[in-house]
Amino acid sequence: MLTFSESVSFDHRLAPFDIAGSKAHSAMLAHVGLITKAERDAIHAGLDAILADIEAGKFSWSTQLEDVHMNIEQALTKRVPAAAKLHTARSRNDQVATDMRLFFKHACAVLIEKLRGAQRALLAIAERDGDVLVPGYTHLQRAQPVFLAHHLAAYLEMLDRDVERFRVVADHANWCPLGSGAIAGTTLPIDREFTARTLGFVDAKGRPRVTANSMDTVADRDLFIEFATACALAGVHFSRVAEDLIIWSSVEFKFVELPDAFCTGSSLMPQKKNPDSCELLRGKSARLQGNLHTLLTLTKGLPLTYNRDLQEDKPPVFDSFDQTALCTDVLTGTIAGMTVLRDRCAAAVADPALLATDLADYLVDRGVPFREAHHAVGAVVKLAEQRRVPLDRLPVPDVQALHPGFGPDWPAVFDLKRAMARRRGTGMPGPAQVKKQLARWRKRLA
Ligand code: ARG
Repeated sequence: MLTFSESVSFDHRLAPFDIAGSKAHSAMLAHVGLITKAERDAIHAGLDAILADIEAGKFSWSTQLEDVHMNIEQALTKRVPAAAKLHTARSRNDQVATDMRLFFKHACAVLIEKLRGAQRALLAIAERDGDVLVPGYTHLQRAQPVFLAHHLAAYLEMLDRDVERFRVVADHANWCPLGSGAIAGTTLPIDREFTARTLGFVDAKGRPRVTANSMDTVADRDLFIEFATACALAGVHFSRVAEDLIIWSSVEFKFVELPDAFCTGSSLMPQKKNPDSCELLRGKSARLQGNLHTLLTLTKGLPLTYNRDLQEDKPPVFDSFDQTALCTDVLTGTIAGMTVLRDRCAAAVADPALLATDLADYLVDRGVPFREAHHAVGAVVKLAEQRRVPLDRLPVPDVQALHPGFGPDWPAVFDLKRAMARRRGTGMPGPAQVKKQLARWRKRLA
């Protein structure tokens, strides 16, 4: 049962937050006169010493004492008699909730910083190879030409939404549970606002934020689920970027060369270079989704308020944090070390069929209704296929025979530079717009 019920093997990492919470709580107890200032100081000194021991790896954790909270309190009691008063007006239930809210604020800040790093790596490539054109794909079929920078800027948008989500989670975490007790608060005259202020649970104006309902406070695990959601969704984004890189780095495409340090060879086939980092990013996204699912299932049938089941809420959260942090670092390294193979990109994007839509727009410019133009260009594409010639090599009279709207100037449509320059609207892949996007990102990520 001891092995079965302990949580210290995973919640020991909450120690810095637990100690910060205990220091704030004891400061509050002294503030309202429930303990003396001398007792508070003794508790603080003892907690500081314990934290130093923990950080130096000199603290011995005991599974007999179940969790991080009991381990630290017990160690404190051995050093400081006043420790017996520390748990006044507090339960492990509001203590766990507090530790985790402090953890979430920290974890979100770490992940935001890492995501910014990944964005900076993407921006660096977008700027370095800003003039490279590649085919954009729908249904994994060549669709229309885009600047590689435009494609990479799509990832920048995705990761920016992840940053925003972690900001929201950090804001939701920013409410102080202490004072909720086990379920129904306390009869003692505590000052919840004091504790909240001490722990930095404050709004933009520095006003304390305390949770509004003691029962909800100790039962609520929304934040766990929100955090795991943000991680899972970031994981989906990493996975989609990874999938593009896997395709792009294949011999069939070879738009990019991935850095050797993030790839492996085959133990059997000497020619192989496998995109391991990208495949693991794709794989780990499944794990992040699994963690979210664990939390949803864990909480869905629980009666209010705390139930011991909730001890199982921490491993998936810690795993999501650790893996998302690792994934972000590895994504950053993979992108930062990747080489764009400009010749291969140029060859792929030279396919004139990529501008078939522009050809339809050409007819629309001449007053042809789009549906009719689309149909006419379809016939032109078919003819080129039948004759096995590139689209732009068809003789003018032959295309004019398919639709009278085509003039002798029709091959001008296949000038890529001109085609890109015409994509002028906001969010489009024209050179001026892409430049604008990159300038915005440079400023945002500075
Ligand atoms: N180890 C427990 C957990 O992590 C601490 C809370 C215990 N609370 C209680 N009422 N038994 O959830």
